[in-house]
Order: sequence, then C-alpha cells, then structure tokens
Amino acid sequence: MRSTTKKYKNEFFASCPTGLEALLETELKEFGAKETETTKGGVHFKSYPEAAIKGILYSTIASRIYKKAFGFEIKNEKDIYYNAKEIKWKGIFDLEQTFKISVIQGKSKQGTKRSKFENSMFLGHQLKDAIADRFREDTKERPYVDKVLPDMSFLMRVEPNDNPHSQKEEVTILIDMCGVAISNRGYRVKSFSAPLRENLANGILRLAGYDGSQTLVDGMCGSGTFLAEAALIKWKIPSSYIHLQNHKEYGDDLPWAFLKHNYYTKDKYLKENTEKLIQETIKISETALSNLKPGSIFGYDTDNGALDIASYNLEVAGLESGLTFENEDITQVTKFDDGGIFIANPPYGERLGEGDDLERLYYELGENLKNNFKNFNAYIFTGNMPLLKKISLRTSKKTILYNGNIESRLAEYKLF
Ligand SMILES: C[S@@+](CC[C@H](N)C(=O)[O-])C[C@H]1O[C@@H](n2cnc3c(N)ncnc32)[C@H](O)[C@@H]1O
Repeated sequence: MRSTTKKYKNEFFASCPTGLEALLETELKEFGAKETETTKGGVHFKSYPEAAIKGILYSTIASRIYKKAFGFEIKNEKDIYYNAKEIKWKGIFDLEQTFKISVIQGKSKQGTKRSKFENSMFLGHQLKDAIADRFREDTKERPYVDKVLPDMSFLMRVEPNDNPHSQKEEVTILIDMCGVAISNRGYRVKSFSAPLRENLANGILRLAGYDGSQTLVDGMCGSGTFLAEAALIKWKIPSSYIHLQNHKEYGDDLPWAFLKHNYYTKDKYLKENTEKLIQETIKISETALSNLKPGSIFGYDTDNGALDIASYNLEVAGLESGLTFENEDITQVTKFDDGGIFIANPPYGERLGEGDDLERLYYELGENLKNNFKNFNAYIFTGNMPLLKKISLRTSKKTILYNGNIESRLAEYKLF
C-alpha cells in the first residue's frame, strides 16, 4: 500500500526522561516553540529551526531534539519500503554522507494499542533498503551505513492509531539534530558506577523547587551530578558550555549533527543566526562561570572513590569553586538548621548495596532528617519502594519518574 507522504516543515520532537515532559514543554516555549504537545517521553512542537537549535544549546531537560521529516501510513512492513522509496533522499543528504536508522515501536495516542509488528529490525531494513535503492536509481550509487558515527541518524517511529477496527499504523521519520545527546554535558570525564543522567538530575532539582536561591544539600552525591546541575541552575550556565569551551579553547569540532545537515548548510540565514547564537552562548557561559562562589551547594558521600571522581569531573567542568563536598556520613551530619532543599539518591539495591544495611541506611537517613534538617524540604529519589517505606516521615508528595527503564519515585518530606 502506498499512502500520501506528508513532508514536515518546521516541526520537531524533543525527547526527555519520562515524567519530565511538562518541565521540557516550559523550557521549549521559552526558546520560541509554538503549538507544543506533550506525549510520554517528549514534546512535539512547531517553530523555526532557530528555536530547536537554541534547545540544543540551552535545554537542561531534553535528551535529544529531532527534526520531523516525513510521515505516512502502513498496513504491513513492506509498505515502509514502498512509501520511503518515493522520497527523493538525495535532497535530504548526500551520497558521501553515512547514515543510520533506529526504530521505536510505540503505543497509540490514547495508549489503547501497541504496534503490531514483531521485528523492529526488519522495519528498519525496509527503510534502509528504500533509501539505498532510491539513491541507486537517482545516482547509480548508494550511501553507506555507519552505526557508530553517522552523518545522518534517522529515527523511525511506528505507532498504531486508537481506532479498534484499523489495521493501519503511522510511520514518522525524524532526523536526530544532536549527534551527541543534550544530556551529555561533557563533565563525565571519569565514570562512576550508578550516576544519574544529567537531565534527569536537573529535572529532579526543578521538581524539588530549586531555583538557585536556596541552600542545597546532596546527602549522597556520588559523582556529583546533582551538584553540577545545581550549579547550572544557580548561575544560569548554558547546558552546552563545555562543548563550546572545548571548541573555543582547543579547536574541537562542535559535536552537533545538524551542522552537517543539508537543511542547515544550505540555509544562509539559519547559519548566520546560529553562528551568532554560538558566540553569544560562549559569552554567557564565560560570564556565568566567573560568578561562581562557594557556600550554598553542599555534597556528602562516604566513599572516597566517588568523591575523587566528583572532584576530578567538577574541576574539569570548571564548577568546583562553586561547590563544597566532604567525606561524611549523611546520617550523622548536623550542621544545617536554617532551611533549604535536601536531596539524595541513596543506593537502592538494583545496582549498588543490598539487604539489611540498606534498610538501616534509609531508616537512619529519615531519623537524621527529622532531627537535624529543620525547615528543609527533603527529596529522596529511589527505584526501591519498600526501602523508601523505612523512612519514618510523612510523605507530602510522590512523583513517578523513570531512571532509564527503572520506575522510580521522588518522595517529598516537609520538615519542621
Ligand atoms: C546511587 S549513588 C548516588 C549517585 C549520584 N546521584 C550520581 O549521580 O553520581 C549513592 C551514593 O550514596 C553513597 N552513600 C551510601 N551511604 C552513605 C552515607 N551513609 N552517607 C553518605 N553517602 C552515602 C554511596 O557511596 C554512593 O556514592
């Protein structure tokens, strides 16, 4: 079956950790996004490409931003081939450029149906063959696939509609504008065993109401993700600042995929506007970094290895002078009595620590919060609900968030 192919213009999709969609929508509107629509795991929006590019440089919540390219309906797998072969791919990218295809099979809008196709790899092959065959027809040659560092990374979403009688599914082909994920700020030089994704940590801080004006304590800082993200919020440092700094100081290429894409390279005004935006963002980053002061963002951990990693990464990131971190057991810390925001992502058995020790740790953490963190709002982020119950404080709010595919809770406690 060949359906009419929709060619999108100035329509985008930004992905984010599930649970942070509303925060992402607010950010995107600030960058100039219009007609936003949230869906599980992201936000659809319309805008000039400038707003999407601003998102890549500034968003703290998005994982990636995609430019929507084409959409059509299918009844079976082969329909992907027939429809995609009608598209003039040589206008979208060049023969010399490499490409990659990822496939996501989703649910219908209302969540009543799941995509019926069994093999997402087979769906991807249909698109890959259509692109190769169409190029061969038009140029006698085909572009190569590169699964690691492609010039063009296509995401194909395949989603059914909610009509119970319909066999049709909607295919949307999107172009990843980012290359390197926005959530990958560039401060994870040394790795730690269970770090939070940077954008998830940032979203948790915002859900906790942190706006940079309060004292912030991360009781179990590990590699320091909350500390770094709190610094970005407090001093309004653009999320892309490390990539920009490396570009300015060491001549590194900027990592974003859109810089090589035809819709960008062939648009003189968009290029000029983006070059201006990049220069402006470098200046904003430099001014923000020169304002760092210690005394309001604190981190604790009992593991010297974790603290060494935090110290190294935060120094490379140029954030160390704004942060204070110490080797101390958070169940014993007593020096905060003036109110603020307490945050912790304790070990929860899935990846770190186990058993009775953890039950005791959660219990003692709760007791210390009760006794020594007066007037704080405390937030515990964990994927282990039974352990959370060991904290004998009244929960004032619980938010469901996904840490990768682990369903987790952000529990709020108001301490008096
Ligand atoms: C899940 S990790 C935190 C990861 C961190 N959010 C990040 O993004 O890197 C939990 C941390 O709690 C620390 N920890 C365990 N017991 C502690 C205690 N009593 N006081 C302070 N830190 C503790 C561990 O050493 C570990 O680094």
